[in-house]
Amino acid sequence: MTQVRHFLDLWRLSSGDLRAILDDAKARKAARKGWPKGRVDADAPCRDRVLAMVFEKNSTRTRFSFDAAIHQLGGRAIIANAGDMQLGRGEPVEDTARVLSRMVDAVMIRAHSHEDVERFARVATVPVINGLTDKSHPCQILADLQTIEENRGDVRGQTIAWVGDGNNVCASFIHAAPRFGYRLRIACPPQYHPDLMDLARAQQEGAEVLLLDDPKMAAAQADVVVTDTWVSMGDADHEARMEAFEPFAVDEALMEQAAPDAAFLHCLPAHRGEEVSDAVLDGEQSLVWDEAENRIHAQKAILNWCLGG
Ligand code: CP
Ligand code: NVA
Repeated sequence: MTQVRHFLDLWRLSSGDLRAILDDAKARKAARKGWPKGRVDADAPCRDRVLAMVFEKNSTRTRFSFDAAIHQLGGRAIIANAGDMQLGRGEPVEDTARVLSRMVDAVMIRAHSHEDVERFARVATVPVINGLTDKSHPCQILADLQTIEENRGDVRGQTIAWVGDGNNVCASFIHAAPRFGYRLRIACPPQYHPDLMDLARAQQEGAEVLLLDDPKMAAAQADVVVTDTWVSMGDADHEARMEAFEPFAVDEALMEQAAPDAAFLHCLPAHRGEEVSDAVLDGEQSLVWDEAENRIHAQKAILNWCLGG
């Protein structure tokens, strides 16, 4: 039996597969320049395929981009909030995986618990895609790398500064660092550091990943500055976070530490005046709207890879 191509975390994929996915994303974007968004790609590689999308948490970008993506590949989506499914009334994750595997060709899940997505994938006989968990957000990082490369060329050898929470999005930047060969400097309050196992794995695999507590040191001459919300979905300690993260806001003064033409990225939704100022988010160095659009292109390439393209 051929192995099912799950897309759960970037560290699980080879550099070759990840590069092929990123290049497919760029090629598909270029090939449909100027087309209406509902038109199907000429090769329709996922013709007649059905993608199930299950959401335990809110979503704008992931939801709309995956729906548009599978349509542009020639397939269709079935979308459900977990609370409307029997999953929300306690039907086991494994039984849900068995049933959906009989009905659809791939499943994208946005879940509270990363472990639940792993459990789903262990039983599923169709590809499972991680659409964000408490631990990682791999789809986002492929869109981010596409955005960086469109604007600044090959990401290999570039320095990416992560400023803020060592959260799920930060984790996927760590996972991809050894695969794509970029340097990563992470500045966060010590109590909100990323998973040290993730750091150790990336470093063992040869990546240059530095953990700092000074945003200016992280941003110094960086090619890209990235941040994310200080309070992720599921985080309870709102007040403690707002206090701890205040020195980690990305504003014009911090962007001045980076390379003069440095790019600013944010996965969105942004909290203006908290982790990022209006001037940076709306400024010339900000690529956040390209980044959001690239969710469609990157996810088309992920779906195409998962479904054997
Ligand atoms: N960046 C991102 O995943 O956005 P949504 O939460 O809107 O899907
Ligand atoms: N870290 C954020 C990302 C949202 C796309 C969260 O998990 O809420």
